[in-house]
Amino acid sequence: MQLLDGKKAAQAIRDELKIEVAQLAAEGKKIPHLAAILVGNNGASETYVAAKVKACDEAGFLSTLIRLEADTPEIRLLDQIEKLNNDPDVDGILVQLPLPSHIREENVINAIDPDKDVDGFHPVNIGRMVQGLPTFIPATPHGVMLLLEHFKIDTKGKHAVVVGRSNIVGRPMSILLSANTNPGNCTVTVCHSRTPDIKSFCLQADIIVAAIGKPEFITADMVKEGAIIVDVGITRVEDATKKSGFKLKGDVHFDSVAPKSSWITPVPGGVGPMTIAALLKNTYRSCALKN
Ligand code: GUN
Repeated sequence: MQLLDGKKAAQAIRDELKIEVAQLAAEGKKIPHLAAILVGNNGASETYVAAKVKACDEAGFLSTLIRLEADTPEIRLLDQIEKLNNDPDVDGILVQLPLPSHIREENVINAIDPDKDVDGFHPVNIGRMVQGLPTFIPATPHGVMLLLEHFKIDTKGKHAVVVGRSNIVGRPMSILLSANTNPGNCTVTVCHSRTPDIKSFCLQADIIVAAIGKPEFITADMVKEGAIIVDVGITRVEDATKKSGFKLKGDVHFDSVAPKSSWITPVPGGVGPMTIAALLKNTYRSCALKN
């Protein structure tokens, strides 16, 4: 078993971006600027947004964090997005999900200028991704592809089973893995909550991408010997022995699955850091298109 070390791969990408941004600054060119909006104070969202802003700062990007109260009316959020759409200094706009229930996610995603949609959630960008055109690819599946690329995983002709069909991870993941690219060129099966006997599909998988949000759902009996395991799950599970009161658990039962796998991502330190690296790459790309 070898570790798909996301911390290491992400650091390599971040170091590379830092050098490129320093070069832009030295040439007097525009440097990338990410604007993140956080509505309310969901604990996990706070952590993720703080990590994204910190990564921007470390790479030499500009960042703006806009915090709005949990009861902010939808129209105020849309006004804020419009301001950022019209601000020539801002390259990327990110609205952290999930949003409070009175705000319609679809309206928010559709309001972001597709040319600044570094999360890649806008229907225009999803459409471009499906067609294999240059676009912003959603950060988590983009991060998984970068991780496979970093460790030179040969995916061509492999059977990938994606467990989960969310718009943010499972669906785009299945499209990217089946694309005529490297990594890619997989035969893809998508399993979800209505799939009977998920185990029977997982047992046929050369690659499993677990993105269901159920801690330790994938167990050793569901995994073929030598499979490649990518764990996208990061659920907070209560743990009184931790100072924070919780620990992070993936969708894969790491201890039992790892000995059967050829490659496996840890949680934390696997897909999570890659998501942030991919977001930085998207923001850099948005800026480069302007430069
Ligand atoms: N919530 C969980 N994942 C993401 C993500 O990639 N982007 C945003 N904006 N919110 C999220």
